[in-house]
Amino acid sequence: MADRQFVDGEVVYPSEEVIAKARLKDWDAMARRAAEDLEGFWAQEAEELEWYRKWDKVLDDSGKPFYKWFTGAKVNIVHNCLDRYQKSWRRNKLALIWVGEPGDVRTYSYYALNREVNQFANILKAMGIQKGDRITIYMPRVPEIVIAMLACAKIGAVHSVVYGGFSVDALQGRIEDSQSRMVITADGGWMNGKIVRLKDTVDEALKRCPSVETVITVRRTGHEVRMEPGRDYWYHDLIGLPIATGKCPTEQLDAEDPLFILYTSGTTGTPKAILHTHGGYMVGIYTTLKYVFDIQDEDRWWCAADPGWITGHSYIVYGPLLNGATTFIYEGAPTYPYPDRWWALIEKYGITILYTAPTAIRGLMRFGESWPKRHDLSSLRLLGSVGEPINPEAWRWYYEVIGGGRCPIMDTWWQTETGMFMITPTPVVPLKPGSGTRPFFGQEAEIVDEDGNPVPDGEEGYLVLKRPWPAMMRTIYNDPDRYVDQYWSRFPGKYMTGDSAKRDRDGYFWIIGRVDDVIKVSGYRLGTAEIESALVSHPAIAEAAAIGLPHEVKGNAIHAYCILRTGYEPSEKLAEELRQHVREHMGPIARPEKIHFVDKLPKTRSGKIMRRVLKAQALGLDVGDTSTMED
Ligand code: WTA
Repeated sequence: MADRQFVDGEVVYPSEEVIAKARLKDWDAMARRAAEDLEGFWAQEAEELEWYRKWDKVLDDSGKPFYKWFTGAKVNIVHNCLDRYQKSWRRNKLALIWVGEPGDVRTYSYYALNREVNQFANILKAMGIQKGDRITIYMPRVPEIVIAMLACAKIGAVHSVVYGGFSVDALQGRIEDSQSRMVITADGGWMNGKIVRLKDTVDEALKRCPSVETVITVRRTGHEVRMEPGRDYWYHDLIGLPIATGKCPTEQLDAEDPLFILYTSGTTGTPKAILHTHGGYMVGIYTTLKYVFDIQDEDRWWCAADPGWITGHSYIVYGPLLNGATTFIYEGAPTYPYPDRWWALIEKYGITILYTAPTAIRGLMRFGESWPKRHDLSSLRLLGSVGEPINPEAWRWYYEVIGGGRCPIMDTWWQTETGMFMITPTPVVPLKPGSGTRPFFGQEAEIVDEDGNPVPDGEEGYLVLKRPWPAMMRTIYNDPDRYVDQYWSRFPGKYMTGDSAKRDRDGYFWIIGRVDDVIKVSGYRLGTAEIESALVSHPAIAEAAAIGLPHEVKGNAIHAYCILRTGYEPSEKLAEELRQHVREHMGPIARPEKIHFVDKLPKTRSGKIMRRVLKAQALGLDVGDTSTMED
């Protein structure tokens, strides 16, 4: 691959050293093999994991787009994350190194992690949780979030993690939609030197969630919280009970049994619950993490996302454990108490691979080189990027200042729905700053026009995926029609990603951004509908439209256009009140950057808000085709 001829743009080649270290040297050969025999490729990967019973079929596409993988197999992802190591030397390896924002540290060997997962799984069973039950997890970045997820999976319960940065309305909607029987939370978490009071938010949300019978709370911050007798239990009390023994059999599940649901925003309407399963998801993330970040035994892997998003599910929790790796979690803010917190952690813990979002890089770049320069970052060997396109300046800084010009950047394009990396290099692939390079083994991506026809290289269009992959979402929980409608009907037979992109003449893909009503703010995925409904719940607002506009650090910032009810006047005070209102209802990440008071919103004749017109106007661009606009 290194001797490939390139015709478009700047290329950064891997060094001899990187190539020598990489476990997979011949990218082309592997890509060819997977293209010729998709099922054979994935079956071979699956063979590296343990199954209670092997599959009858690798890929069952008889009911497409409801694809199934490894049908007939019996498995549990937790068996491969924990159980299988207990009989080898790996039981003594560190599975998890955790650092709290105030500086407290906890570590878990694979033995210790397994033991606590068993203890907690026994508690869940004693509380009557059964296979298939949904459990909402709403927690800060503490080890118990990992333990809770694994304990659910172990007994076949379906976890639904809600990001701890979300607030009451977002949490309540997700608990209600999933009909969770239990919520696992913490009193609070540390962020920027302050306590985020999660339990209070749970109490508030549960006023409107009758399905929840039990709440288990981890004591993290130690401040006083309300405990309702008969409903609320402390995690540490339960773990201390005699029934919480360190042994618990792992439930033998069908490969297609659900592992988790994760809510994400999409085109119009309420967030949708993306469903992933035990078998295919396990094989997909095991394989992608192994090849893309080349995880090896001496590595210390740090994915700096939050476990509450797909990046955390796949590559903080399940992926590293499936690879027997040591995963690092830091609770708090990158700039607390100083802007070198991350760099200090890398030095102190000897982190070898850092995986984060461009927004974090841009945010830390602002403080200048002197902060990272105070630290010895020579342990790093690979870097990663995810969540949004990385701009060339941030790429350069990350590569030169953090990676010392030694560490290739794995720019991984993927989604909650895809479960695993889809367009990504591996360490031996020549890079182009800002491009995720090419589809992962077994995948084919294409850029198409409105009618689904491929566009010439260099032209922008819709990004679609053409082949099924094991970690693909199986459906939208409780809404299979929406699954078909949103992903598979626009371009029949092809998966519609919702992104626009270009492919260059070297076959490299360049993501441009979302084409739907999703806004990526600091790499976080938000839907315009949720923000708008939070705005409209304020008495002053008759109607609202939210759009994303370019922002130097966040990538996109939310701008809200509001029509006031009669009796209200535009003012800076009201604008601030509205921003605060959205923050309280949705969470800090959804707080609009700017509120614009308007008399009218551009709409189609059928009454749909034309956000693209607002966006074009704000950016001073041509508003494009407005033939469907009302007047
Ligand atoms: C965007 C996050 C450019 C994209 C894993 C996608 C990216 C959405 C990249 C999914 C990348 C993710 N380069 N854009 N490397 N990675 N995206 O579901 O718009 O939170 O559709 O999953 O993030 O966001 P989600």
